[in-house]
Amino acid sequence: MTTGDQSPIPDYPSMLRLDGRNYVVAGAGVGMGRHSTHALAQAGAAKIICVDVDAGRADEIADEVGRDVAIPWVGDVTTREGAAALGVFAEQELGKIDGFVDIIGMARWESILDMTDETFDWEIDINLRHAFLLSQELGRRMVTTGGGTMTFIASVSGLTSGPMHAAYGAAKAGLMAWVQTLSEELGPKGIRANAVAPGTILSPRMDAVFTEEQRRVNAAHPPLGRMGATSDIASAVLFLTSDLSSYISGRTIVVDGGVDAMFPYPTTL
Ligand SMILES: NC(=O)c1ccc[n+]([C@@H]2O[C@H](COP(=O)([O-])OP(=O)(O)OC[C@H]3O[C@@H](n4cnc5c(N)ncnc54)[C@H](O)[C@@H]3O)[C@@H](O)[C@H]2O)c1
Repeated sequence: MTTGDQSPIPDYPSMLRLDGRNYVVAGAGVGMGRHSTHALAQAGAAKIICVDVDAGRADEIADEVGRDVAIPWVGDVTTREGAAALGVFAEQELGKIDGFVDIIGMARWESILDMTDETFDWEIDINLRHAFLLSQELGRRMVTTGGGTMTFIASVSGLTSGPMHAAYGAAKAGLMAWVQTLSEELGPKGIRANAVAPGTILSPRMDAVFTEEQRRVNAAHPPLGRMGATSDIASAVLFLTSDLSSYISGRTIVVDGGVDAMFPYPTTL
């Protein structure tokens, strides 16, 4: 204590710990989901339900993290049936659900004038509908047991224009708006809701489709001089899940190596 400040000093590193807490990670199999699952487990989470629509991936991540902590669950949480079944399973396996991380999202590349109805509906389902469903199916249970955290993966495409994937950007913008109202409605019930908006991240899916030129351009663009790694996103997820962020709710953290902060001045000036 100093003479001008009597407030207690917390043990800051311990605020990152999740010991004894139980989580659900939706989209846990690869990439940001895999890294986020490891991050929560390393921080001491007691149980983590590893959700994936791909049975092999759900099993692999559970094996990799360790079956003492990780429990695989296979299903599609973009449907009411899938999300409801997950809610029942999570309550049975975890008892108290301390939070969830929702990684699920994907984009197709079509111009606005050529976009089909089917693509538009698919983008809303794969990027937004599961947030609505999990907020209800897991959120209703969380409010009865004292609250917790909800953390979603959005995208910088929801903050700026997203040429050739407008519906993706619109759905991710919707997700960030969803998080704001979640935080207001559920904050009084002990729930914090936040999102992470990644820039270009070299996830296994992107790694499989990027050309050499795309790799070069995407690595050269950020002020930090590289593409993002899935572990960069997991770090933000862990922060938002932990008590280090206990007064942050309704916000989106941009993790893009500084791209979104730049005004496009010509580099020759
Ligand atoms: N990679 C990037 O550059 C980038 C940039 C911005 C935002 N994002 C967002 O990051 C998130 C993760 O992207 P990624 O490429 O690491 O993940 P990914 O597409 O590889 O998917 C992660 C896991 O989710 C599972 N999954 C997919 N649909 C599911 C469903 N309906 N139900 C249950 N599981 C399902 C997949 O099988 C996979 O194992 C997405 O929301 C994406 O929109 C990615």
